[in-house]
Amino acid sequence: MEQLQELQEITAPLLAWYDGHARVLPWREHPSPYRVWVSEIMLQQTRVEAVKPYFERFIGELPSIRALAEAPEDRLLKLWEGLGYYNRVRNMQKAARILTEEYGGEMPADYDVILSLPGIGSYTAGAIASIAFGMRRPAVDGNVLRVLSRLEKSYEDILKQSVRRKFEKEVQEIIPEGRAGDFNQSLIELGAIVCVPNGAPKCGECPLEKLCRAHAEGVELELPKKTPPAKRKLEDRTVLVLVSDNKAALHKRPEKGLLAGLYELPNLEGRLGREEVLEYVKKQGLSPIRIQELPEAKHIFSHIEWHMAGYMVKVEEPDSKRNGPEDFFFVEKKQMEETYSIPAAFSAYTGYFKERY
Ligand code: ADE
Repeated sequence: MEQLQELQEITAPLLAWYDGHARVLPWREHPSPYRVWVSEIMLQQTRVEAVKPYFERFIGELPSIRALAEAPEDRLLKLWEGLGYYNRVRNMQKAARILTEEYGGEMPADYDVILSLPGIGSYTAGAIASIAFGMRRPAVDGNVLRVLSRLEKSYEDILKQSVRRKFEKEVQEIIPEGRAGDFNQSLIELGAIVCVPNGAPKCGECPLEKLCRAHAEGVELELPKKTPPAKRKLEDRTVLVLVSDNKAALHKRPEKGLLAGLYELPNLEGRLGREEVLEYVKKQGLSPIRIQELPEAKHIFSHIEWHMAGYMVKVEEPDSKRNGPEDFFFVEKKQMEETYSIPAAFSAYTGYFKERY
């Protein structure tokens, strides 16, 4: 209880600070449930500056929940290309279809319904409920966990669900009536621009400096505590830029697993030498003319790291009856850029194609 009374003291200075310092961001104008939802999902793994152009383009092309529900999958993935974690947008479409079928294409002002939608957890549900509907619900993301850990000098592991829930309960108690959305955003904003991670909090600019227990004891850099994530699995791969005329080969990935349903450059497990690559290309029913080694590249996913060798292989124009084990098709640079969503893992190698053709 003593703890809560103290925490209550943050609301007034925090809101006053927010009123003077909040960044002007596209999703803060006209915060409809749809706009808040799209922005929060994009912001989950991506920086604000990087999200801005994606947000404008996405909302411009799919301006309503109904439009999102009806978007062709390839178009959807293309709008998301570069943001990564594509399941986020697939889940948004699933949720949009539910909202279209069951709620007339609108997000209902009902926290439990919002929380039940695919891809929406307690943070996103709280953000939509509070920012778009003014409901007193907490929205505790990584920024807020950092701010609260430091404020309370809490050494508990913020990656634990139980710790997140404890902080959610605390925030729930102090959300001011009438300014729920601003209050949640003020906590997020403080974490994003003042109480920043990686050893550089700007305590001199913080409206809560005098209330912060970690700062009082000079331990703000030790917090928050997180258990280190498991080590990533390393995988060697060989990526091929198979070029015929002015086109390069693409392949659609399976509908399940890593990068499901996206398009990729042909690639194989392991690091292959030139001869092995030529043999593979011939097995696909293609006739190689020239092979060139490309520089190595690396891509880091959340649980896997790809270490890639690359080759550019020029092949004769494929016979329309080509009959190889893999289902490749050849596209021009323009189609590669505009139609097919190719994950960032391949961008080093698509780059070689786009530069030359
Ligand atoms: N990061 C996550 N949500 C945000 C928001 N609503 N505004 C700014 N940064 C954020």
